[in-house]
Amino acid sequence: MTDGTTRPVHVTGWGRYAPASVLTNADLERMVDTSDEWIRTRTGIRERRVAAAHETTASMGAVAGLRAIRTAGIEPDDIDLILLATLTPDYWMPSTAALVKEAIGNTRAPAMDVAAACSGFVYAYASAHAYIASGMAKHALVIGAELLTRFLDYTDRNTCILFGDGAGAVVLSAGDGPGGGLGFEMTTEPQGAYMIWLPAGGAKAPPSAETIARGEHYIRMEGKETYRFATRTLASTALTSIDRAGLRPDDIDLFIPHQANIRIIDAVAKGLDLPMERMYVNVDRYGNTSAASVPIALAEAVNEGRVKVGDHVCLVAFGAGFTSGAVTLQWTADPARGIAGDAAVRPEDVQVRLPVDWDSVDPIPAALAEVLARPVAPGVEVPLDDVAPGEPEHAHPEPVGR
Ligand code: COA
Repeated sequence: MTDGTTRPVHVTGWGRYAPASVLTNADLERMVDTSDEWIRTRTGIRERRVAAAHETTASMGAVAGLRAIRTAGIEPDDIDLILLATLTPDYWMPSTAALVKEAIGNTRAPAMDVAAACSGFVYAYASAHAYIASGMAKHALVIGAELLTRFLDYTDRNTCILFGDGAGAVVLSAGDGPGGGLGFEMTTEPQGAYMIWLPAGGAKAPPSAETIARGEHYIRMEGKETYRFATRTLASTALTSIDRAGLRPDDIDLFIPHQANIRIIDAVAKGLDLPMERMYVNVDRYGNTSAASVPIALAEAVNEGRVKVGDHVCLVAFGAGFTSGAVTLQWTADPARGIAGDAAVRPEDVQVRLPVDWDSVDPIPAALAEVLARPVAPGVEVPLDDVAPGEPEHAHPEPVGR
């Protein structure tokens, strides 16, 4: 990796989307042998979002993507590259990016998916930067979107408590002024290939009654090994990208780490010898949304006023593969634009075209559907709207969850 400064590439748009339905730790207590206390102290997670039956990775990605385009103040057809990072595509083919392209009303851009698990958004960001820096594209839409709750075994307490659904996106644009992406690092360590994996459904184990009976269509994870990898790698990956940007860790105003576990984020802060205030945290509200986690966190951090023009920001992620990646950038966009961009796109106005001759089965796992149908327990606060921090409350009078 080099610093890739052939021409400056800036974040000009950002957006996020979180489905309305909330799965709390108390809900999970009803499904597996766990406790709110265990989940909070071991992971920092209080709740996560669950996509409704009519929602898909493409539909969530399209809403976040269109919001990023509105924030950038450009038209969908100004986009000339679409990269969508996901480990939960709608289909094996076509790519989820292709469906998003149609849903947002773009006619020009090549669209493709990026598979690098939870590091996927950072990998896609770095790839889009390279396209723009080299002159092959001018405006790229980079999306991280995941619908993980349909790939979880709700009898496995090691995994089902961790993950949630959502999408985030940025528009990257060629610019003349200084700033934008300054330093990049990406690593892949295949020794960790089977530490987080989904065994069946691919060419090695095509889906069959037998693979389903064995539960091989669900995510499996060696939590301790993954934890070790994350705490060993995140700080060093961030450091390399910061170094390539010609900066020191103390120059970074805000880190946007992958939101997997508050203890992992804490370890990164310690590894970089920085206070936790420099780390953006929203894992408590979303759990781990894999490739969507960094762009959701970035959009929320900017909309909350945590990022100002001229600030240095470091995005850093790790995930299955094992992969890791970091981008150090200097923020140049007016942070106030994001809230209006989010408000400009209502989820119900974005449609992903369905096939004409095919009926899907009910996509929500039965155990999850049963718990979500519950009456809300007294005293539990369930945010039932899709309102980003700072967004005017009237922005989405009829939120998702139809
Ligand atoms: N509720 C209650 N107890 C649980 C539990 C749950 N949801 N999950 C595991 N336990 C139990 C274990 O069975 C174990 O019990 P035992 O001591 O009787 O065997 C005990 O809690 C401790 O388990 P352990 O695995 O040592 O916990 P941990 O402190 O390592 O935390 C993770 C587990 C998964 C939270 C942690 O390892 C982690 O975050 N790993 C990284 C995962 C990750 O980030 N994945 C995504 C990568 S992108």
